[in-house]
Amino acid sequence: MADKKATLSVNGKTIELPVYSGTAGPDVIDVRGLVQEGLFTYDPGFVSTAACESQITYIDGSKGILLHRGYPIEQLAEKSDYLEVCYLLIYGELPTAAQAEKFRNTVKNHTMVHEQLNHFFNGFRRDAHPMAIMCGVVGALSAFYHDTMDFSDELHREIAAFRLIAKMPTLAAMCYKYSMGQPFMYPRNDLDYASNFLYMMFATPCENYQVNPVLARAMDRIFTLHADHEQNASTSTVRLAGSSGANPFACIASGIAALWGPAHGGANEAVLNMLMEIGDEERIPEFIERAKDKNDPFRLMGFGHRVYKNFDPRAKVMKKTCDEVLSELGCADDPLFRIAMKLEQIALEDPYFAEKKLYPNVDFYSGIILRAAGIPVSMFTVIFAMARTIGWFSHWHEMVSGPYRIGRPRQLYTGHTSREYPQK
Ligand code: SDX
Repeated sequence: MADKKATLSVNGKTIELPVYSGTAGPDVIDVRGLVQEGLFTYDPGFVSTAACESQITYIDGSKGILLHRGYPIEQLAEKSDYLEVCYLLIYGELPTAAQAEKFRNTVKNHTMVHEQLNHFFNGFRRDAHPMAIMCGVVGALSAFYHDTMDFSDELHREIAAFRLIAKMPTLAAMCYKYSMGQPFMYPRNDLDYASNFLYMMFATPCENYQVNPVLARAMDRIFTLHADHEQNASTSTVRLAGSSGANPFACIASGIAALWGPAHGGANEAVLNMLMEIGDEERIPEFIERAKDKNDPFRLMGFGHRVYKNFDPRAKVMKKTCDEVLSELGCADDPLFRIAMKLEQIALEDPYFAEKKLYPNVDFYSGIILRAAGIPVSMFTVIFAMARTIGWFSHWHEMVSGPYRIGRPRQLYTGHTSREYPQK
């Protein structure tokens, strides 16, 4: 793969390093040989570090491009659906009709969780944050499948995929029901993936519940838009956990933990709280100024991205979906949506945001749709985790399906050098 070389002159030495080109994106310099030269690279936050080779998702941040196995996210959001995207991310190609049918039916046969898993919820307070519960119960799934935990076996890897894709909506809905003090609703195999999730969230044993097809379609699109995103913080966490040989349930629990932070998946919850705090379009300038003030920790949530220095293509699709859903639900003049659109307009006209290339990201509009669907703000990041499960699994699967080493970064040490313990 090395058809080019980089030359490094350091400490009076000249070192040649291989340079590799991918099918798209920046070339990479293979720095693995530096340790033999007594050198490390230094890249806190991994701003310019390619930690792995992958063929799943490609992002061009300057052009606002996002491809899953080569297919643009805009086309997948318009023409595909979440389960088809799950198949694509795992296997690398879109399924035939027969493959899709088999995949959907297999997922349907794994939507229930072990009855004993229900007891885990009773240990939590009713007001526990649902992400805290998800960290626990998803990791606990590994306690129920001793018969298929040999992940050197492709069949065991595949059954884990089906269990995770199928059970995440069930567990997510259980978190919500537990917080409401309502009984858990069993999944229904006559419903599609998104409809089944809304049913488990909002149905009760007391009466028949009809899923709103507009909301079901919007939820499926939200799942698709959140499915995968290259080597983001939570996916990198899953890869690092998996590099020690940990099982996929534990790895994905670590991804859920990483996603929870407000700088990452927790931003969708933070956006809604911010829009509610702004409360009125008149107050937008006050918050824009706070976001620009270096002495104020406040940031415009849902804005900015490590990779996108142009529009996040998902935010564009999300904004269009938001508009469609609110109109179809008869709340086109939703005040928070109006504040969000005004905030976006003012921010994008402000030189601070233009200079720093800060645009709306995937989290800026998603919460408005989720709120319109009746989903509480505390559940927003759980929805993100549900959808991202396929991305986390696909990257774990890609890594463990070939040769890999345990991830073990080094450091720039600036602490005390050796010193004697004082004589007493
Ligand atoms: C997701 O990585 C992924 O792919 C993530 C994700 C995925 O699908 O997995 O896309 C999902 O996590 C989206 C991002 C959600 N987070 C937010 O919306 C929180 C608000 N955004 C920021 O915290 C920030 O933009 C990050 C965390 C998203 C990116 O952080 P970086 O790349 O480390 O950038 P930075 O913090 O160094 O900011 C660069 C500059 C700074 O100013 P200077 O120090 O250069 O003067 O831009 C400023 C920041 O102060 N800045 C902001 C800002 N984001 C960056 N200023 C005000 N408001 C903001 N939102």
